[in-house]
Amino acid sequence: MPSRPDGIVIAIDGPSGAGKSTIARLLAERLGYIQIDTGAMFRAAALLLSLAGVDLDDLAAVEQFCRTIDIRLELESGRQVVRANGADVTDKIRSAEMSLLTSLTATLKPVREALLKAQQQMGSRGGVVLEGRDIGTVVFPDAEIKFYLSASVAERARRRCEELISKGEPVSLAETVADVEKRDQQDSERDIAPLRQADDALLIDSSHLSIDEVLSSMEAICRKKIENMGTTL
Ligand code: DC
Repeated sequence: MPSRPDGIVIAIDGPSGAGKSTIARLLAERLGYIQIDTGAMFRAAALLLSLAGVDLDDLAAVEQFCRTIDIRLELESGRQVVRANGADVTDKIRSAEMSLLTSLTATLKPVREALLKAQQQMGSRGGVVLEGRDIGTVVFPDAEIKFYLSASVAERARRRCEELISKGEPVSLAETVADVEKRDQQDSERDIAPLRQADDALLIDSSHLSIDEVLSSMEAICRKKIENMGTTL
């Protein structure tokens, strides 16, 4: 087990809409850890690539562009802010359109390589909850705790639909189910770092569990591990 100065690395992977972001945020808050939403980093990269009009089929151009991007996750007045080349893109990256575009750009090797380095650097001191698709398999295969959070397609689509409608984006359930299925397929069938449960990850199916139930069981597991490792919170 690696020892890190600020605590352990907690990896949460799973498909879209399984509740990773909410759980990762609350778990980080309870443990006094930093939350690293790697999906937000992929979303910010996708936005920058699209705004710059980079041809996604031209991998040399994508690679060159990725060298110029600076994506940061900052905590401003208790709110997680995503900055892409200095601009606050926190809300802009959350649309249904950006979700599909991100899933596509996340298949590109230069994008993944650029973000992989940044993510490993951000988490290297420990004391972090990283959420994504490949944290336990690729970014931190040596994470002290790995969770794989899942839920049925119907439940994930229902939650996503509710979230988008509450943000004023009118979507239908049928179209959200189709989007979720398409993203699942893109995320798990890509060649590089596909969505996959690590062999040593703990599977949690949140379909019939409340956020609080999921959170409590995950928190208990983390605290036990932290205690056993003699790491202070
Ligand atoms: O978690 P999210 O829905 O915000 O992620 C957006 C997209 O980014 C998703 O389609 C998969 C991709 N992603 C990835 O490929 N690897 C990660 N570690 C995180 C997200």
